[in-house]
Amino acid sequence: MSQLRRSGPSTAGRVAAGVPPSGDPASSRDPASSAAPIAPHLLPLTAAVGADGRLLVGGVDICRLADEQGTPLFVYDEEHLRARCREAVAAFGPGVAYGAKAFLCKSMARLAREEGMLLDVATGEELSIALAAGASPSSLVLHGNNKSAEELDTACSLGVHRVVVDSSDELDRLVGALAARRTGPGGSAPAPQQALVRVTPGVEAHTHEFVTTGREDSKFGFSLASGAADAAVEAIAAVDGLELVGAHAHIGSQIFRLDAFVQEIALLVPFVKRHGLSELCIGGGLGVAYLNGEAAPSIREWASVVHAACASAGLAQQVRVTAEPGRAIVATAGITCYRVGTIKHLPGIRTYVAVDGGMSDNPRPVLYGSGYEAFLPRAASSPRPLPARVVGKHCESGDVLVESARLPADLAVGDVLATPVTGAYGFSMASNYNRLRRPAVVFVGDGKARVVVRRERVDDLLRLED
Ligand SMILES: Cc1ncc(COP(=O)(O)O)c(C=O)c1O
Repeated sequence: MSQLRRSGPSTAGRVAAGVPPSGDPASSRDPASSAAPIAPHLLPLTAAVGADGRLLVGGVDICRLADEQGTPLFVYDEEHLRARCREAVAAFGPGVAYGAKAFLCKSMARLAREEGMLLDVATGEELSIALAAGASPSSLVLHGNNKSAEELDTACSLGVHRVVVDSSDELDRLVGALAARRTGPGGSAPAPQQALVRVTPGVEAHTHEFVTTGREDSKFGFSLASGAADAAVEAIAAVDGLELVGAHAHIGSQIFRLDAFVQEIALLVPFVKRHGLSELCIGGGLGVAYLNGEAAPSIREWASVVHAACASAGLAQQVRVTAEPGRAIVATAGITCYRVGTIKHLPGIRTYVAVDGGMSDNPRPVLYGSGYEAFLPRAASSPRPLPARVVGKHCESGDVLVESARLPADLAVGDVLATPVTGAYGFSMASNYNRLRRPAVVFVGDGKARVVVRRERVDDLLRLED
C-alpha cells in the first residue's frame, strides 16, 4: 500500500501577496495535465492506494464500503476532520468556532467539540442538533439574519456563548427574550448574555476575487460605512441583561485571496477600538482546492495573515481574534461515492455518465457552477483520458455533478465513481428532490467504518404524511 503524496500546487509566496493561487474554478483545469490521475491533495489525509490500485481511506477499502453500504454514500476521513480542527485551534486559539452549516450531524458536532472548537450554529435546528450531540450551551455561537423570538428565547434561556446581533428588529426580539429569562438562584438576576454585533464592512469576497463597496448591499448585519453599526453598539449597550463583547463580520465563502481578509480587518479594527470591544471575529470563508490545478492557503497561513493584519492595524494584543471556518475544516475530508448506471457516448458531442445521485446530494454545481473532479476508487492513481460529463438521475437537464470530468478509459456501468472534496455543503444542503432518499454518512478511521447518519428509507419520506 502506498500513501499518496499530498503536496498540491504551492501557494508559497502568493498567499501574502494576495495573488490568486489559481484561476477561476470553472476554468482552471490545465489542459496538459487534464488526463492526469486525481491529485492527492484533493483526497482525504489518510488516503492511500493498495497494491491492486484501489483507494483506501482510514484503512478502509472504498469500493468495498460502497458495496456494503450502498450508494450514494458520503465518506469522511475522521483523522482529517480532527487534524483540521486541531489546526484551527492551534492557529486561532480556543475561541475559534466550527461553521457547522458546512456539515452538521451529532458525530461531527462531538468531534469538533472534542478537538476544542466552539460551534457556530445558524438556526434553532442546528442549535438543537449541537445540544443533542452533548455540546454545552456555553460552546455555541448563535448566528442568523432573522432569528425568531423562539430561537432567541432558547439561546438566552440556555445562556449560549455568544448571540450575534444582526438587526434592530432582532434586537427588539432579544429584549423580549432576555426579559423572559428566569431569575438566577435566590432571585438574583441571570448572568448577562454575551453578544457580538454583526458588521457589514463593505468587503465582499467569493472564490478568488474580492471587491470593496462603498455601500454595503447585504441582508446581513449593520453597515459600517453608514454609521448603522456604531448606532447598533449604542442600542445594544442600552439593553439590560445584554453585554456586547465584540464585533463580527463574514465577507464571503471559498475565498483564496487572503488580502480580502486584510482589507476586512483594516476596516473593522478602528470600529473595535472606537468602542473598546474585546473580541473580533472575522467569520469563515477560507477556500479549498476542488480541482487538480488548484491550491488554497492553509488554516495556519490564513491565521498568520489575519494576526499580522490585526497587529499592523493597531489592534491591542489583548483583543481576542477569532474565526469560524466551515468548509476548510470538512470539505477535503469527505468524498461522495456513486454507482455508474448509464454511459452514453454522443459522437462529436460528449459522453454522459449517469450516477445514482445528483443535485439532491450535491446542489453546488447547479447553484454556483462549482467545479469538481471525479475518479474511480478501484483505479485511484490511473490516468483519466476520457472526457465526460457526470450527471445525476433527477428529471432535470441541469442535474450535473461534474461538468468537465476526466475518467479512466475502461470506465464501465457498475463502477463506483467518487467525487472528492465533497465534505462541505453537500450533506448539509441535500434534499429529497424527486423523493430520493438522502444518502448515509460514514466516518472511516483505523481500518473501520461507522455509519453516523443512516440512509433514509421510504418510511422516512412518508412519516410526516397523513
Ligand atoms: C457567519 C458565517 N460564519 C461562518 C461561515 C462558514 O463559512 P465557510 O464554510 O466558507 O468557512 C458562514 C458561511 O456562510 C457564515 O455565514
